[in-house]
Amino acid sequence: MPKTTRSFPNWNLIYRDEKVADMPWYNEKLDYDLEEEIVQRNIKGNDIKILDIGTGPGTQAIRLSELGFNVTGSDLSEYAIEKAKKLSDRVNFIIDDILNSKFKENEFEYIFDRGCFHVLPVEDRNRYVVKVKNILKIDGILFLKCFSEKEEREEGPYRFSPDGIKEIFGNDFKIQSIKETVYQGTLDPLPKALFVVMRKKEN
Ligand SMILES: C[S@@+](CC[C@H](N)C(=O)[O-])C[C@H]1O[C@@H](n2cnc3c(N)ncnc32)[C@H](O)[C@@H]1O
Repeated sequence: MPKTTRSFPNWNLIYRDEKVADMPWYNEKLDYDLEEEIVQRNIKGNDIKILDIGTGPGTQAIRLSELGFNVTGSDLSEYAIEKAKKLSDRVNFIIDDILNSKFKENEFEYIFDRGCFHVLPVEDRNRYVVKVKNILKIDGILFLKCFSEKEEREEGPYRFSPDGIKEIFGNDFKIQSIKETVYQGTLDPLPKALFVVMRKKEN
């Protein structure tokens, strides 16, 4: 039986007390599923605004900025943002809780979420969908990486099936693809994950 409720550390304190490079989600390189999409879709340009939600160590946001995009990295942990800011001045690192986000409507062409959505409490998922949709531009795209129901470790974030993703996001987003993949980080073996590409619906 899948766990119905999962608990998580105090995000702010772990970024204060632990080395980011030891965190299970730490990935120096750009997530390769995202990189593949960027190449296939021929996404380029310094006028393209991308938000990395729950940026944590900031590695994904920094790699995206090195590709020339206009990148914002947000996290609710002030310590995560403080540490990330020291690594790059090309990324706009901001403290922001996505569930009460201060970002403006229609602000970003693309949003990347690698591991934030899957740590949110179940009851906050709909709020997340509304917020992300609101800050994406018309036709904006959400790239989502989350743990798959196929991941067998007991501990860790919530897990999702393709049908579960469609149920949560399907009213507000057109799901373009769902790929079975892994979550790159420091765990061995790498956790099984889904990589979802979805376009904001106009309604
Ligand atoms: C599993 S980590 C992933 C970090 C990063 N995306 C990466 O790929 O290395 C999840 C991150 O989401 C952040 N987070 C959790 N809830 C959040 C919320 N409501 N708003 C913004 N960030 C949140 C945590 O502080 C943490 O940095």
